[in-house]
Amino acid sequence: MSEKILEMKNIIKDFPGVRALDKVNFTLEKGEILALVGENGAGKSTLMKVLSGVWPYPSYEGDIYLRDQLVRFANTREAEEAGIGIIHQELNLLPDLSVAENIYLDRQPLGKFGGIKWRELYQQAEKVLARLNMDINPRMQLGDLTVGKQQMVEIAKALSLNTKILVFDEPTSALTESEIKELFIVINELRASGVSIIYISHKMEEIEEIADSVVVLRDGATIGDKIKISEVTLDEIIARMVGRDINDLFPKQEFKRGAKTLEVKNITVPDPFNPDKNLVDDVSFTAYKGEILGISGLMGAGRTELVNAIFGVYGKKRTGEIFLNGNQLAINSPADAIESGIALVTEDRKELGLLLDKNLIMNMTLPSLKKFSSSFTIDKNAEKETSENYVKQLNIKTPSLDVFVEKLSGGNQQKVVIGKWLITNSDVLILDEPTRGIDVGAKVEVYRLMNQLVEEGVTVIMISSELPEIMGMSDRIIVMSEGEKTAELTRQEADQETIMKYATGNKGVE
Ligand SMILES: Nc1ncnc2c1ncn2[C@@H]1O[C@H](COP(=O)(O)OP(=O)(O)OP(=O)(O)O)[C@@H](O)[C@H]1O
Ligand SMILES: [Mg+2]
Repeated sequence: MSEKILEMKNIIKDFPGVRALDKVNFTLEKGEILALVGENGAGKSTLMKVLSGVWPYPSYEGDIYLRDQLVRFANTREAEEAGIGIIHQELNLLPDLSVAENIYLDRQPLGKFGGIKWRELYQQAEKVLARLNMDINPRMQLGDLTVGKQQMVEIAKALSLNTKILVFDEPTSALTESEIKELFIVINELRASGVSIIYISHKMEEIEEIADSVVVLRDGATIGDKIKISEVTLDEIIARMVGRDINDLFPKQEFKRGAKTLEVKNITVPDPFNPDKNLVDDVSFTAYKGEILGISGLMGAGRTELVNAIFGVYGKKRTGEIFLNGNQLAINSPADAIESGIALVTEDRKELGLLLDKNLIMNMTLPSLKKFSSSFTIDKNAEKETSENYVKQLNIKTPSLDVFVEKLSGGNQQKVVIGKWLITNSDVLILDEPTRGIDVGAKVEVYRLMNQLVEEGVTVIMISSELPEIMGMSDRIIVMSEGEKTAELTRQEADQETIMKYATGNKGVE
C-alpha cells in the first residue's frame, strides 16, 4: 500500500516576464524514486526551489501538503526541519571547511562556553558517513575531495537532518561512471530506508535505471499524469517533453571530406604534480574540413587537457606542434588560439565563461566584438540582430535579449555559450561535452547546428562521454586513455565495445 507523503497543488510561480510554473500538481509516495524531466527552462528547478523554501511563501501561489498537513516555509531552514533536503544543480558546500563542518554547518555540537566540541563533531560525522558506506575522513578539507565525494557529503548532510524527501537536481553531470554507480547504490539504499526521492536529469538511460515513475514538465505545466517507468517507453517520455516525436536522435549528415585543417603533432603536457606522468602524452592527429572528429574516453583520460593544450591554456608548458591549413601556429594563450581561428566551448558548467550579471547580447558577442566594431563604435544593431538570430536557432528560452544570463535556466546558459562561439566564425570549433545538461530536443538542435557548420566548412571536434552521441555524430573517433591516444577509428569501425576496449587502456595505435 502506498502512502502519500507530499502533495503540491496548483503551484504558480512568476518571475519578471515569465510564468515559470503554471498550476502544477505533483504528488510523491513514501519510498518512491520519482524522475522529474522536461526541457531546459521547463520549471523543474523552480518547482523544487518552491518545495525546499528557496522561494518562500508567499512568493508563489498554491499549497504544499506534507502528510496531509499544509506547510508554508519561510526559508530553507524550515523546509529542512520538515524533512526536505535538496542537492542543487551546483553544489552548495564550503570548500575551505572540513567535511564534518560542512555536514553540521551552524549545527555543530557546542560546549558550555560556546566552543565547538570537535571530537563529538567528528564522531557524529563519521556515523552519518558510515551510513552511506563512504570512506571519507570527516577531518579532511572538503575542497580536497573529488566532486563525487563532495556530493556524498551533501547527501550525508541531508541524512544528518533526518531528511524524508531528498531532491537531486542533475546530480551526475560532473560525476565519473564509477561515482554514478556509487550514487545509485546510495539512492537505492535511501529508498529502502523509507526516504522518498525526486530525481531531475536529462539523461534518459539514468532515469530508466533508477526511477519508479516519471513526471514530465513542459513550459511550467505537467504534461499528462505521473506514469510508472515500466509502463512507458523513452520515446514516449521524450515526445511528452518536447511536444513532438523525435524520430532521429542523431541526425548525422555526411559530407565529402575536404582538405587538412587542424594538424597537431606530439602534443605533450606534463603533470605539475607528478613528474613521472604526462596529462597529455605525445598525441598527434589530423582533422579535415567536412568532418566531425570525435574524442572519446573515460573521465580523466586527458581529453579536456588535450583540447585545452591546443587552445593555449597551458602556455609554454605544452610541447608539440600545431598547424592550421598547413601553417604552423604559435599558440601560447587562448587569445592566440582565437586569433588564429580556433574556438573552444568548455565543459565546465560553473566557469562557462559567462558574465552572469551581463545580458545575453553582451555574453553572446563578447569574443566577436571585432566583428561588430568599426574604429570607435560598436554596431549595436548588428550585435542585437546576430544575437537574436542565434537565440532563435538554438531555441534559447529567455523573456528578452536584455535579461542577465544568471536568470536563465542551466541548460539555456549552456546554449548561450555555444552561441557565443558559433558567432566567432572560427575554422575549427572544439566542443567539450557540448550537450551536457541540455535536454533531448536541444541536443538534436545542437547536432543540426554541427551539421550546418561542417557544411559551411568548419572543422568540428567534439569531446563526449556519451557513447551513443560520439558514435552517432562523428566521422572519425579518437580514443584516449591515461593521456595517450589509444585508437583512431572510422565511423564504421566504432562500436560501443571497441571504443570501451581502447578507452580502458588497450592500444590500437603506436
Ligand atoms: N531567479 C530567476 N529569475 C528570473 N527567472 C528565472 C529565475 N529562475 C528561473 N527563471 C526562469 O524560470 C523558468 C524555469 O527555469 P528552471 O530553472 O526552473 O528550469 P529547469 O527546468 O530547471 O531547466 P534546466 O534543465 O535548464 O535546468 C525559465 O524560463 C527561467 O529563465
Ligand atoms: Mg534546472
